[in-house]
Amino acid sequence: MTDPLTTSPEFRFAVHARDGQARTGAITMPRGTIRTPAFMPVGTAATVKAMYPEQVRELGADVVLGNTYHLMLRPGPERMARLGGLHRFMRWNGPILTDSGGFQVMSLSALRKIDEDGVTFRSHVDGSAHRMSPERSIEIQGCLGSDIQMQLDECVRLPADRATIEKAMQLSLRWAERCRTAFGEQPGKAMFGIVQGGDLPDLRIESARALTGLDLKGYAIGGLAVGEPQAVMLAMIETVEPHLPTGKPRYLMGVGTPDDLMQSVMRGIDMFDCVMPTRAGRHGLAYTRHGRINLRNARHAEDVRPLDEVSDCPAARNYSRAYLHHLVRSDEILGMMLLTWNNLAYYQALMAGMRAAIAEGRLADFIGATKEGWARAEA
Ligand code: GUN
Repeated sequence: MTDPLTTSPEFRFAVHARDGQARTGAITMPRGTIRTPAFMPVGTAATVKAMYPEQVRELGADVVLGNTYHLMLRPGPERMARLGGLHRFMRWNGPILTDSGGFQVMSLSALRKIDEDGVTFRSHVDGSAHRMSPERSIEIQGCLGSDIQMQLDECVRLPADRATIEKAMQLSLRWAERCRTAFGEQPGKAMFGIVQGGDLPDLRIESARALTGLDLKGYAIGGLAVGEPQAVMLAMIETVEPHLPTGKPRYLMGVGTPDDLMQSVMRGIDMFDCVMPTRAGRHGLAYTRHGRINLRNARHAEDVRPLDEVSDCPAARNYSRAYLHHLVRSDEILGMMLLTWNNLAYYQALMAGMRAAIAEGRLADFIGATKEGWARAEA
């Protein structure tokens, strides 16, 4: 994974081919290359749940995501630094992107309070009190050894009123500057800004323009898939995209379903993360060429077919739906492992399919054929 041909001492992004607004390319950095568009499996607590790191890599994931919020509470940033950082700790030697913590504080912790200087909250683990400023978030991400660090931001759930959305967007901009100063220059690493602005086009544009002025190494679009319809999310991507530099990676945070990924790639997004394939796998749901299958359903009880007989993934090819149904109904660990494996394999294959299709100028056909496969499903 540290092949000198595919790494670079600097953080670099190159677009290799375009198809409409869609692009395929590569981010190179000392720990490896991220082929884009990329899907990053979520490894919140230093583990992609129910998966071995070797398996995650084998599926074609070039990068995994870690969470500052979870890891600062357990095992703690300074302990993680003493143990040699997150890569060594979880045995993942490729690139790691870490989210900054703001989003998770707002969704998971108790008694959270946000002010100009940061956020105060109580741990969802043991109730202990914590404080996170933009500078502390960057410091913690440094302790973890993260390759791509995210600015601290405030994400507003939708629907929300204009004043709330604008206040959070402006605060996020000020925090982006503070994070950039705290991060400084770190060769081979990057700090990304996060566009906010809810479902309001003018605020989205203002956020994208101001962040672009900070000349960061990459730009995320945050505050989407937070309660709005897909059409609104896609409209916001279309609004923001022309205001982001073409030569920097664009990361849509926390998204999404296979269809969300395809629609967003078509609109120029290069990176994604989402708990969907892993979480769904632990809840009996399988993503396949035939669409999403709920293995809990009684109609699978005697179905001897595998999830997908032509998949490269053993979990999809070698186990009957009847067996998976039994495992899921019995709350067996293996059921979660097999479905997570299947789902991440499906997501990675979807990304690989889109990369190849963009390189050959046939993304629209690829998307059409993929959706046709879901529609034809009897499953
Ligand atoms: N994950 C999903 N959405 C967001 C967001 O808006 N901000 C951050 N930091 N993480 C996210």
